[in-house]
Amino acid sequence: MLGIIGGTGLTKLANLEITHRQVARTPYGEPSGALTFGRLCGEEIIFLARHGYGHTIPPHEVNYRANLWALKEHAVDRIVSIATVGGINPALPAGSMVVPDQIIDYTWGRIGTFAISGEKQVTHLDFTEPYCEAMRRDILRAASLKNLAVRDGGVYAVSQGPRLETAAEINRMERDGADMVGMTGMPEAYLAREIELCYAAIGVVVNDAAGRGASKNGIHETDIQRGLEDLMGRVRVLLEELVVLAHPESCPK
Ligand code: HPA
Repeated sequence: MLGIIGGTGLTKLANLEITHRQVARTPYGEPSGALTFGRLCGEEIIFLARHGYGHTIPPHEVNYRANLWALKEHAVDRIVSIATVGGINPALPAGSMVVPDQIIDYTWGRIGTFAISGEKQVTHLDFTEPYCEAMRRDILRAASLKNLAVRDGGVYAVSQGPRLETAAEINRMERDGADMVGMTGMPEAYLAREIELCYAAIGVVVNDAAGRGASKNGIHETDIQRGLEDLMGRVRVLLEELVVLAHPESCPK
């Protein structure tokens, strides 16, 4: 079953016929909120708002382990994660959408593994390709079927937050090869890998990154909010198409 993790601006799905909600408990604590079970275009899915349904949990305090564990426990095997990001690459202006294919992790102090020290032999999983390619392809196919412009590939720099970056930090990220910057891509993507969930993200560009374009003199919350509604409208259209065509047999991970 498909799980959808909604980020900023997507705390609910308009066309989701909700069947029930369930509070989940996991060995890692409580997820960001109750799991929302429902049907989207006739397909069963589970939705979870990453920052809580009232958008009160900051990126560094999200219990990424509990969120993913709870979804997996309820038969989710594929996850599409919605992430609002700032555009670093000029090819990603505010209002664009992107399916990243790489990650640079600048976060610190977040728990990045399900392994509990001393319990099992330490393993080092391959993370060369951080996203499930089959899932990425499905998202891009859904976008193309709906005539939605979505860029294929890009490096997602994950910053610690909750503050936005300085202009110099963005310059450094660009030199490192980053195309976009957000706060929630990690450890989510790696934790999904650890428990064998097929995982990919849709980056929704809500602002030019600090010091760039319209953000040359600063980024204001109102700038971010402005385009959000329209963008999330497009994300919903994309997700509806995705649930219909993302068949599990096409997902190797
Ligand atoms: N930086 C980090 N995270 C973000 C941004 C940004 O500019 N925009 C939306 N999420």
